[in-house]
Amino acid sequence: MIVLKSKREIEGMRLAGGILASCHKEISKIIKPGITTMEINSFVEEFLKEKGATPEQKGYRDYPYATCASINDEICHGFPREEQLRTGDIVTIDMVVNYNGALADSAWTYAIGQIPNEIENLLKITEEALYIGINQSHIGNRIGDIGYAIQQYAEEKGFSVVREFVGHGIGSAIHEKPNVPHFGLQGKGPRIKEGMVFTIEPMINLGGNGIRMDGNGWTARTIDGKYSAQYEHTIAITKDGPIILTAQNR
Ligand code: MF3
Ligand code: CO
Repeated sequence: MIVLKSKREIEGMRLAGGILASCHKEISKIIKPGITTMEINSFVEEFLKEKGATPEQKGYRDYPYATCASINDEICHGFPREEQLRTGDIVTIDMVVNYNGALADSAWTYAIGQIPNEIENLLKITEEALYIGINQSHIGNRIGDIGYAIQQYAEEKGFSVVREFVGHGIGSAIHEKPNVPHFGLQGKGPRIKEGMVFTIEPMINLGGNGIRMDGNGWTARTIDGKYSAQYEHTIAITKDGPIILTAQNR
């Protein structure tokens, strides 16, 4: 069942999204060679506490941390750790913020120092793919239109789309219906309706889309060891189109 949200519920999620967006903006200032993802994780915990918010991922299905921090060939759900980031690394920081019971979810890939052009391009295309998906998210379209557009764009640029992890409805729980794949067919899937709130979070790989799970049961990485990037926003569907609840530019 897809739970549609009231204007009031969406307003609550927008407040959570605002805190999350400002947290990402702060991360972008401190993330550099020498810092560890555990330090970033601690920074996030402290930042959210100051804002009166909580990290919803911590304890979710026994996930142990406030953030996921996925480095280089890690696709998603990397564990924060005590290892210094180095020039040329890329790191995806993903978190879900709970503010007064309303949730928002957003991931961002950061470049550490100077990175090769090829990886720079991977980041750029992945971010663009997210916005291409958001542009498809309006009443009259179906969920499949989002994935179709993202897949077309990413593959045309020579990259591949991860299949095993998808966007999702979100509200008072992290994962609700509908599933929002980042690949698929036009005109397929549920109709997009006013009051839907869901994430779009394409994971795009430089090489092939094959994944392998780490022994920790959480972290997914590319089989070929090539880099993977991800950008994620939480969006709400209104009569006037999608609103990005986790937008960083407001
Ligand atoms: N933020 C993740 C997502 O985009 C949720 C991860 S669940 C966790 O779907 F437990 F790993 F945190
Ligand atoms: Co997320």
